[in-house]
Amino acid sequence: MTEETLKPDTKQASGPKQQKLAINFLIRFYIVFKILRLYAENNELLQEQTELLYQTLQELKEAAPEINFKIKRESIFFNQARLKFSLANYPIFKFLLEEFRKREIGLLTIEPDVSREELLRAVNVLGLKRTSATPFEDIVSELVQQNVERVRLEKLEASEKLPSPERSAARLFFLSILHLREVSERNKENEQIRLNTTRRLIQSIFNHLVDNESFLLGLTTIKNHDEYTLNHSVNVSLLAVALGRRLGLSRAELVDLGLAAFFHDLGKIETPLEILNKPGQLTDDERKIMELHPHQGAEKLVQLRQFRRLPVSAIHVAMEHHIKEDLTGYPRLKIKNDVNLYSRIVKVCDFFDAITTKRVYRKKTFTRSEALSLMLENIGSEFNPVILKTFVQMMGIFPVGSLVLLNTGEVGLVVENNQETRFLLRPRVKIIVDSQGQKVDGEVVDLTEVDPQTRKYRRTIVKEINPEDYGLEVPDYFLVQAM
Ligand SMILES: [Fe+2]
Ligand SMILES: [Fe+2]
Repeated sequence: MTEETLKPDTKQASGPKQQKLAINFLIRFYIVFKILRLYAENNELLQEQTELLYQTLQELKEAAPEINFKIKRESIFFNQARLKFSLANYPIFKFLLEEFRKREIGLLTIEPDVSREELLRAVNVLGLKRTSATPFEDIVSELVQQNVERVRLEKLEASEKLPSPERSAARLFFLSILHLREVSERNKENEQIRLNTTRRLIQSIFNHLVDNESFLLGLTTIKNHDEYTLNHSVNVSLLAVALGRRLGLSRAELVDLGLAAFFHDLGKIETPLEILNKPGQLTDDERKIMELHPHQGAEKLVQLRQFRRLPVSAIHVAMEHHIKEDLTGYPRLKIKNDVNLYSRIVKVCDFFDAITTKRVYRKKTFTRSEALSLMLENIGSEFNPVILKTFVQMMGIFPVGSLVLLNTGEVGLVVENNQETRFLLRPRVKIIVDSQGQKVDGEVVDLTEVDPQTRKYRRTIVKEINPEDYGLEVPDYFLVQAM
């Protein structure tokens, strides 16, 4: 066989048709899996759905010579090809991934000649809830008892076992930075940019956000000085998606918003580093060059748009993110037009991330809550009132990542805000300095906790403190969680 004849085959293995059929099969599998928990085996609905599952299997085996589903990293692979789930199917994918993990199943092989009955017996065994310490071994022996031979399992590799959501969120955060670096480099070399990867990253950001908003917001405390623009872009994207979610945007809109935010400063690739990193005030000429970045970014995005799916809003956001609510700012608008909603959202997140980051040219770094109060002073003129209020509510009075001094003398790191308005001053904090002033790896405490004897709150925030004054590195605490 020559190489030429081999090629179409390998291509087919990951072809879109197989992808679709394999995903259909998993969706059907999921439905049966769910129904089995509710109904007896002779139930009509169950039989109907099993039939559909079996039919999908027949279609799948027409298209694929073998049927292997493998759990690897955060993905499900079908015959070596990673299955790409749409946002709509994401909950199903996630459910299956977790259920497979709980059962320590790393590989599921289905022989094409499996019968409907054998398939159902197998799904039945697989679907049972497992609480023992050896779920995988239990399932394998039950499959043998049930005479299931054509559905085979392999155990999940130890390294694939349940990464914490924090760990995968942190990995995603750094992946996004790496990806953005690649995008900028490719852009400089005029190479094609893989926007699909960007889109996928933003989708994952959204998915993680649903699981653990606090932790992801905590990650935005990471401020990498060497790669300021990259880091900043990822932070703004994260904050924008979180804020957009609070504002009630749909999933699809959130992905567009996230993409637009991700690229808001793309034009800075053109700004000379001497200006970008200049300590102290810029001269008028330098400032003019700096203020070109919205235009330059919009131009780049227009070019990018020619060959890939990029929302028009990304161009708006690049162009408008320094325009204030009263339409001052830059670039100066010739016609007093309304600013795009996404631009207004990004403006708020951009400003917040920028002033909470230490920069050579900025005399003062604002703590997270100082930043919010400064922004509130300019509500209406600089920021859209509804958007800013929602942002402040989302961040809380002491945003995740703030350091607070407690009345016990301890220092706590805010790890989660209390969603009840009356407890806005009582977030959950991790104790990082004890009452003797020693750095400790303390517990996470809830500031709403009341001492039953004194009937008073155990701990109360005295004030927010600046991490720099205490020589504390806030991002480390979030990263340690992610290890
Ligand atoms: Fe900017
Ligand atoms: Fe920015």
